Amino acid sequence: MNSRDSEFVTGLLIDNGYTLAPSIDKADVVIFNSCAVRKHAEDKLFSHIADLKPLKAKKKGLIIVLMGCVAQNYKDEAVKRLPIIDIVCGPGDEAKLPRIIADVARHREHIIAIEDVDKKRPEITPEYRSGELKALVSIGEGCNNFCTYCIVPYARGRERYRDPKDIVREVRGLARRGFKEILLLGQNVNSYGRGTGSDGQLAVNFAGLLEEINEIDGIKRIRFMTSHPKDASEELFKAMCDLDKVCEHLHLPLQSGSDRILKAMNRGYDRNKYMKDIELYKRYLPLGAITTDVIVGFPGETEKDFKETLRVMKDVGFDNAFTFKYSPRPPAASSELEDDVTMEVKDRRLQELMKLQARISIMKNERFKGKIVDVLVESIGTKADDTVIGRTRTNKMVVFGGGAKLIGSLVNVEIEDAKSNILAGRMVG
Ligand code: 5AD
Ligand code: SF4
Repeated sequence: MNSRDSEFVTGLLIDNGYTLAPSIDKADVVIFNSCAVRKHAEDKLFSHIADLKPLKAKKKGLIIVLMGCVAQNYKDEAVKRLPIIDIVCGPGDEAKLPRIIADVARHREHIIAIEDVDKKRPEITPEYRSGELKALVSIGEGCNNFCTYCIVPYARGRERYRDPKDIVREVRGLARRGFKEILLLGQNVNSYGRGTGSDGQLAVNFAGLLEEINEIDGIKRIRFMTSHPKDASEELFKAMCDLDKVCEHLHLPLQSGSDRILKAMNRGYDRNKYMKDIELYKRYLPLGAITTDVIVGFPGETEKDFKETLRVMKDVGFDNAFTFKYSPRPPAASSELEDDVTMEVKDRRLQELMKLQARISIMKNERFKGKIVDVLVESIGTKADDTVIGRTRTNKMVVFGGGAKLIGSLVNVEIEDAKSNILAGRMVG
């Protein structure tokens, strides 16, 4: 979602006469888009901004902007921490950035633009896109779930969704420009359509939106993220099965395999419900991929809780898992709890999870050996001259020989080799 916001702001500035600078030291404006989900990213962000002190000292007119969730959380504190920051702009005010930057250029004063975080964004879609093949399309923003570890509901506000007409119009425009793949983005895509419109409902739910987008000529693949286990439904799995362009990949964050921890996280499901959903998904999409997010070291997580997470990971057999060490994120509720799992234990649990997942990923990928898969060619490879890299519908990376002329096309590749993070093969037509 942050990538889409960066692209949006870049496009907006280009529409207002700016151009992309070839490097930071040539820029008149430097914008940092920030993520507040984990403490580590936040610390890195402030150190990256601080790296600009010498440049700012040399180039007085340089404007430094902090946008995104850290801006929303820190507000004027960000400038107190690092006075070289000129503008602090929350996610709700990003559409105003061209005007704010112009004001700062004129008056040389700090501007803190943090408005109502629950506000709906204006329907502006600048032309600029960072790629030519795959496009990110936001379907809404915010989250109502308040998982106790998570800062998103505070930084991004309550759920609000774009009108299906606007989304379809945007995707049609992208199809006309030659984009082949669409990634629909929302904090919780399965609750699309809830809580908006005059009667509190949009005309379609998420499965209905997928159906509409599936009709758009030129688009070959539709992906989406993120789904929430509490709202993932048979209707969604059925839509994924029935709609030819919707790719067979579900990202379903587990977070923990322990019911006790899931409850403390306020996730709204237990291990049983999660496993049932997975079973149902596998029934509709036997060859579909499943990926997940897992947090280790949530307050109070015992060895027994952790073992339960390992158990679920084995039982499900995820294609890939993004694993994180818990960090308290005030004002999220769990930040009031004692962060009582030591860093040493968090590290060890993370390593163990990652090791297990690497084994499972290889096993899952080996199932592809000897099979012919549909690959969208995305870029040139890094090793031999004519290798290219693409992705399967299940979002697995594939490397094979073929040459740059293939970029943008859909080809069949027979898989000959499988590693934990990439498949290799040869084109068969
Ligand atoms: N600590 C560690 N990981 C977190 N995530 C969200 N909040 C935290 C936190 N406080 C992880 C979750 C989420 C992913 C985007 O980041 O796993 O799904
Ligand atoms: Fe955060 Fe939970 Fe909302 Fe995901 S569903 S954004 S983890 S509060």
